[in-house]
Amino acid sequence: MKKKEILVTGGAGYIGSHTVVELIHSGYTPVLVDDYRNSHEKVLAGIHEITGIEVQCHQVDVADKLAMKSIFDKHNFDGIIHFAADKAVGESVENPLKYYRNNIGGLVTVLELALEHNVQNFVFSSSCTVYGEPEGTSVVTELAPQQEANSPYGATKQMGERILMDVLKSGANINVLFLRYFNPVGAHPSGAIGELPLGRPNNLLPYVTQTGIGKLEQLTVFGNDYNTEDGTCIRDYIHVVDLAKAHVMGVDWLSKQVPGSSDIINLGTGKGTSVLQIINTFEEITQSKLNWKFGPRRAGDVEQIYADASRAEKVLGWKANLTIADAIKDAWNWEQKQK
Ligand code: UFG
Repeated sequence: MKKKEILVTGGAGYIGSHTVVELIHSGYTPVLVDDYRNSHEKVLAGIHEITGIEVQCHQVDVADKLAMKSIFDKHNFDGIIHFAADKAVGESVENPLKYYRNNIGGLVTVLELALEHNVQNFVFSSSCTVYGEPEGTSVVTELAPQQEANSPYGATKQMGERILMDVLKSGANINVLFLRYFNPVGAHPSGAIGELPLGRPNNLLPYVTQTGIGKLEQLTVFGNDYNTEDGTCIRDYIHVVDLAKAHVMGVDWLSKQVPGSSDIINLGTGKGTSVLQIINTFEEITQSKLNWKFGPRRAGDVEQIYADASRAEKVLGWKANLTIADAIKDAWNWEQKQK
């Protein structure tokens, strides 16, 4: 029997590449689209090193409908996992149109083609950013009320969900799984793929590992006066390999649904970790001292948020297996290979 082809947009990116590996392990044939604007072709060699498979990657902008159409014409996709998007909160404030063109334009293009080619299963890469600062509680279920997005990036995730909801309501022949990620961290345990931030990283863990290895001088911890145990912000850090596996389970789930089905699922561990706890775990694992200092709060930061991840287990049978220590160990292993 021919293996099922899954279109993975942004397939050379951080979460995309790990998902491609897990799709291959589960017997799917991923077909990648990535224009390498925030990734690198060498990721394909990493995927090959882990799986022994040479994946096909089309170097195309997902918002380019003509180029995307020729890919849809060549394949018979069983499903789509749509990762391709820009994701830097600060940059989106400075250059909102870049975000609307890529994140919204790309989604609309891929969706139009999915409907035109009768591709029924669609996984949308969403984010806990849609919840904003949760009111009253730090643990959020999928039903938690959404606050107004505090950046154009966040707005594109809310709008992306809205667009998909409207398409579902129109009676289109499509199933949609909305996956809301908390904070993806870590790398593949082989060290063959991982996060490749271009320029100075925005996110905490790549900043920690790059400081640890000496690429960056010093980490600034943004704020020590939050209303948390140690005064620093709390997040739900989820290992990227666990996250990748959830996508494969999501594709399996979608293929069993009747047209028009959808679900919204948080992907997190259900546990909160503070910035200082990340630093302490990093120091324990690497047996070294990290050069860090406290600085002022970062604008727009949520104090504490973590997932109620019970729906993921109930619907998909998925739960996070790896720990924050696993993620830090794997991220450090990956960092050491990036000379
Ligand atoms: N932090 C520091 N110093 C740094 C970088 C981060 O102290 O140099 C802190 C932040 O203040 C925050 C925590 O580390 O408390 C995590 O910050 P990240 O930037 O790694 O992650 P965020 O939670 O801010 O952002 C993530 C995703 C976004 C998403 C957002 C939604 O990266 O895509 O969650 O809450 F929009």
